[in-house]
Amino acid sequence: MLFNLAKQDSIANRFVAELRNVETQQDRFHFRRNLERLGEVLAYEISKTLVYEPVVVETPLGAATVMLPAQRIVLATILRAGLPFHQGMLNYFDTADSVFIGAYRKHHKDGSFEIQLDYVSKVNLDGCVLILADPMLATGASLNLALKELERFGNPAAIHIAVVVASVAGVEAVRRRWPKARIWAGAVDEELTAKSYIVPGLGDAGDLAFGEKL
Ligand code: URA
Repeated sequence: MLFNLAKQDSIANRFVAELRNVETQQDRFHFRRNLERLGEVLAYEISKTLVYEPVVVETPLGAATVMLPAQRIVLATILRAGLPFHQGMLNYFDTADSVFIGAYRKHHKDGSFEIQLDYVSKVNLDGCVLILADPMLATGASLNLALKELERFGNPAAIHIAVVVASVAGVEAVRRRWPKARIWAGAVDEELTAKSYIVPGLGDAGDLAFGEKL
């Protein structure tokens, strides 16, 4: 399943527009805040798919029965661009466990690249709802590798992949490898450059949020 937030008119489209806009994206604080806001909005959308159970809450005047999420959520994020997006999701899923994955593109002289994974924090994924958050789904290589790595930690009840901008090719690559995973995107773009950047996309999310790579 692919959920594309841009298919609905909502205020979230302004957050995506500001992330894409070459002028507004110069303000790093605002850029990070918009990644965080997209994390909040997509967390809210994902929350509609969770399993709920009734819980009785005592108010000063009586008892209210409310339906609350009953599943353990594990929120995994690919460093470094994922950090503000992760924080946005944590603002809503505030009891979630967090997993951090260090991944980077190792470029070859011919312009191709492979994804190198470094640090992966340990976690038990058995029976949980796993949300893997990465702002840019370009080729799907890092998300596919991250999910393969996470397989070692158990069998989640459900897998969600949350991204700010996806490419059509990236969505297909992830779908082929993880057909049961649900993909949640702020927008889906048609093209990739020769260096696998999304077009029109928004540029390099990590650089824009945190500064240039050395
Ligand atoms: N990572 C980014 O930050 N931007 C892209 O367009 C693709 C991957």
